[in-house]
Amino acid sequence: MFRWFIASVLLAGTAAAADVTDGRVTFNREVLPILEKNCQGCHRPGQIAPMSFLTYETTRPWARKIKVVVGAKKMPPAVTSPHYIVLTKDDGLSQAEIDTIVKWVDGGAIEGPAEAGRKKPAK
Ligand code: HEC
Repeated sequence: MFRWFIASVLLAGTAAAADVTDGRVTFNREVLPILEKNCQGCHRPGQIAPMSFLTYETTRPWARKIKVVVGAKKMPPAVTSPHYIVLTKDDGLSQAEIDTIVKWVDGGAIEGPAEAGRKKPAK
């Protein structure tokens, strides 16, 4: 019975709101606040970036790419078209934020429990 429970949690996959996050970095708890602050200005419908990072569903397919671009400090972009937002270097991610995103992707880019995100933003 217990084994079956574990198996079903694993089978439910990383996308389901599994309560067991094993201390892994989750989208809702740690990653979403970083995206809100640094990415959603462009990565939302109607803005210049081609895909939206407003929700787990639209962000998850990009997890690996996100790891690459933040690791390489390509996103958020330092300079953009003068018609849009211009970012200075100070607007980039901190090393701690980059590490959080890398850990999230390496840990399976899980969503995590929904309400945890709003209560405990990552620091
Ligand atoms: C100033 C606007 C802006 C901000 C802020 C921004 N992006 Fe982007 N992003 C873009 C645009 C425009 C593109 C599409 C053109 C390109 O790939 O350069 C893009 C593309 C991407 C891509 C796809 C790259 C590829 O090779 O296909 C990823 C992944 C990404 N952004 C992640 C992020 C993350 C993560 C953040 C926040 C840490 C972020 N972006 C912040 C504008 C932005």
